[in-house]
Amino acid sequence: MEKDLITKMIELAIEQLRFSYTPYSGFKVGAALLTKSGKIYTGCNIENAAYTPTNCAERTAFFKAVSEGEREFQAICVVGGKDGVLTDYAAPCGVCRQVMMEFCDPQQFQIILATAADHYDVYTLQELLPQGFGPANLNEN
Ligand code: THU
Repeated sequence: MEKDLITKMIELAIEQLRFSYTPYSGFKVGAALLTKSGKIYTGCNIENAAYTPTNCAERTAFFKAVSEGEREFQAICVVGGKDGVLTDYAAPCGVCRQVMMEFCDPQQFQIILATAADHYDVYTLQELLPQGFGPANLNEN
């Protein structure tokens, strides 16, 4: 991926931190999801007093995109930290990795983890979810 595009995604993910709704954990997460056509959908985490309805930033971005007709994705950038301070990478939780598995080719889809526009690493979904179970597993072998 082009470095300028990665920088843009990181900046958009960081911008999302201000919308993150986290009265319980204080852990703020922002995401920027890139479609194959080049459009970017953003997302933040949204917590809930009943805890389990909490939605992660990554899933917010995916569900926004899918609900608008998108099905094909290139990459997602994720940033996060306590009180929105980005000290370490915030890697996607297992549930979010599984949602990525539904729509993305694990060998192609890229996950950008960042703490700043100039500090990031890029992983494939395959690396973060080895032996993942996805739609292909339900097809005839
Ligand atoms: N969180 C995310 O938004 N994405 C992840 O992949 C990890 C966890 C959120 C959920 C919750 O609001 C807070 O971080 C602490 O778990």
